[in-house]
Amino acid sequence: MKNSAVERDVALARAIPKAELHIHIEGSLEPELIFALAQRNGVKLPYDSVQALRTAYAFTDLQSFLDIYYAGASVLLQEADFYDMAWAYFLRAQADHVIHAELFFDPQTHTARGVPMATVIQGLSRACADAKAQLGISAALILCFLRHLSEEDAFATLEAALPYREHFIGVGLDSSELGHPPEKFQRVFARCRELGLRAVAHAGEEGPAEYIWQAIDGLQVQRIDHGVACLEDPLLMAELAYTRLPLTVCPLSNLKLCVVKDLAEHPLKKMLDAGLCVTVNSDDPAYFGGYLNANFEQTVRALALSEADVVQLARNSFEASFVTDAERAAMRQTLERALAEATA
Ligand code: HPA
Ligand code: ZN
Repeated sequence: MKNSAVERDVALARAIPKAELHIHIEGSLEPELIFALAQRNGVKLPYDSVQALRTAYAFTDLQSFLDIYYAGASVLLQEADFYDMAWAYFLRAQADHVIHAELFFDPQTHTARGVPMATVIQGLSRACADAKAQLGISAALILCFLRHLSEEDAFATLEAALPYREHFIGVGLDSSELGHPPEKFQRVFARCRELGLRAVAHAGEEGPAEYIWQAIDGLQVQRIDHGVACLEDPLLMAELAYTRLPLTVCPLSNLKLCVVKDLAEHPLKKMLDAGLCVTVNSDDPAYFGGYLNANFEQTVRALALSEADVVQLARNSFEASFVTDAERAAMRQTLERALAEATA
């Protein structure tokens, strides 16, 4: 007999309203869209077919993924390409009952190929506006600096993006973590704080707990992306539980990039039980085998999460969102109403 409690918790997780706070929009490019955009733009891909590209999605670590992810993003040239990519994500998000999404984008991946900053930001921003108007999803953009590049390059990127300041709410730090500690970007994050931008950083995905401390103390981030290495450090766990500094965890990403060997070994449940403000997210859903609900479903099954865990994860997603108090109250109310209906 199927474990009916788990089935019920999976159904609840899928149905309730949630926020997604860790999604690289370039990581939502499905192979079919990569090929369609390559054809539209006359870009030659090093793969013969959608199937051949999908077959290449066998990753051993973060870098083996990033090499393919940057190659996939090379088909993005026109404003319409950025719009179409984000719109395709919003349709998937709507199906998963995402009511608020904060999207990472990597401008340096595009400006390095000669794509103007305006093209990137305007295409994404228009999709965000349409998501709100047509799908009822509130959406915001977070500009990520590529940490394998220099801090000087990050400063130049910030400068180039400032004419479009009203289109993004914050900055992040992504790409190859090992050897590129948060402290490398201390000055540019200080400048971003002066500009009133929110700050997040990937830390403790492949890197050590020390990188999480650096992101907190040196970059003064308001959320940690991934952060699963925090379990190495009891003092850090205590700090995260006390401050409730949110962590945007991505279980299927951790599995596909071999951060964990098996989802059953994923630390998400331990993090929840320790009182951390942990959330579930998809990271790069086109590459890692699923969007938000797939992450919830597989994690609920692998870790036998309870109904209380599922509800806590959804509540945490709104607690961790960069929205006004009034917006947060409205989102919480939407969740509580859905919970009352689902459990009636
Ligand atoms: N980690 C670091 N950089 C990234 C990721 C990730 O999971 N996805 C896209 N850029
Ligand atoms: Zn990420």
